Amino acid sequence: MTNHKGLALVDLDDDGVDRAFRRDVLEGLRQDQKAIPARWFYDERGSQLFEQITQLEEYYPTRSETEILEALGDRFAELIGRGRAVVEFGSGSSVKTPLLLNAIDPAAYVPLDISGDFLRQSAAELSGKFPGLPVYPVEADFMREVTLPDEVEEHPKLGFFPGSTIGNMIARTAVDLLRSMRATLGHHTHGGALLLIGMDLVKDESTLEAAYDDAEGVTAQFNLNLVERINRELGGTIPVDKLRHEARWDDLHSRIEMHLMASEDIAFEVSGESFEMQQGETIHTENSHKFTRRSANILLLAGGWTPVECWTDSGENFSLILARAENPRNAP
Ligand code: AVJ
Repeated sequence: MTNHKGLALVDLDDDGVDRAFRRDVLEGLRQDQKAIPARWFYDERGSQLFEQITQLEEYYPTRSETEILEALGDRFAELIGRGRAVVEFGSGSSVKTPLLLNAIDPAAYVPLDISGDFLRQSAAELSGKFPGLPVYPVEADFMREVTLPDEVEEHPKLGFFPGSTIGNMIARTAVDLLRSMRATLGHHTHGGALLLIGMDLVKDESTLEAAYDDAEGVTAQFNLNLVERINRELGGTIPVDKLRHEARWDDLHSRIEMHLMASEDIAFEVSGESFEMQQGETIHTENSHKFTRRSANILLLAGGWTPVECWTDSGENFSLILARAENPRNAP
């Protein structure tokens, strides 16, 4: 798989195994606290399960953010204006992206995604809905600075990063990403880029835990799919039926953590390497950080973005923040 400049994004070995996946899994399983980066959830089955999660009664983020996008179209139009190139970090949702594009009437739409398949599919769908809008999908890892297509150089940019995906990152990584976004969007051109970013809010523990441990068990399947993927793609022998899904609130880090806990002592292999887990030991599979208005602002400022306006849904569950990349005016 290559990006628009012909650079390989997914590096497969002779057996067709994704080298980065194997490295992340093996390194993660060797640690005292076993941990695997959450980005590996999203194979085809994982993406389907996440789509199901967004429809669950307990999972409020998607409908809360959609409510904000539906309610505030006029205000976005005022603050953002027409004629920007919208650069979406991720392939875009079939619901949220059209709401934004309808509200602000952009000059172009540029979705960035590391997975070319999802990218082309959703870009084609969106082109169908907005026949007059130039769409330039770019296959790229947006954790680093991305060179945008020449065709959008002349337009001021609006970055769009919905879903509180930034909440998957620890603060240091989130700041790195925000700074990369600033570089990608061109902070010094056209009076500074804008960023519209979704950030989930701190709320009572029971609501948060239910959102990540639903009654139907869809989130449990989503979590367990990661080990099924390891077994399938990396020749793993992890006994999936001896791992239990767990969602816990960590107040110190202000985040929901997802884990897979061994219900008894187990031993298994992955890519020929042996591992053991004692009963009660876990594999840490995801962090989902939750913010207050102030903590959200501090994170954005640390990444070079000055908050302009913040909106929440009627239940005050979720926030959508508009921020501007400005050169620092105040010393130091
Ligand atoms: C897509 C990362 C925003 O953290 O809420 C949903 C992923 N994990 N249920 C989130 C997820 C478990 C989701 N994000």
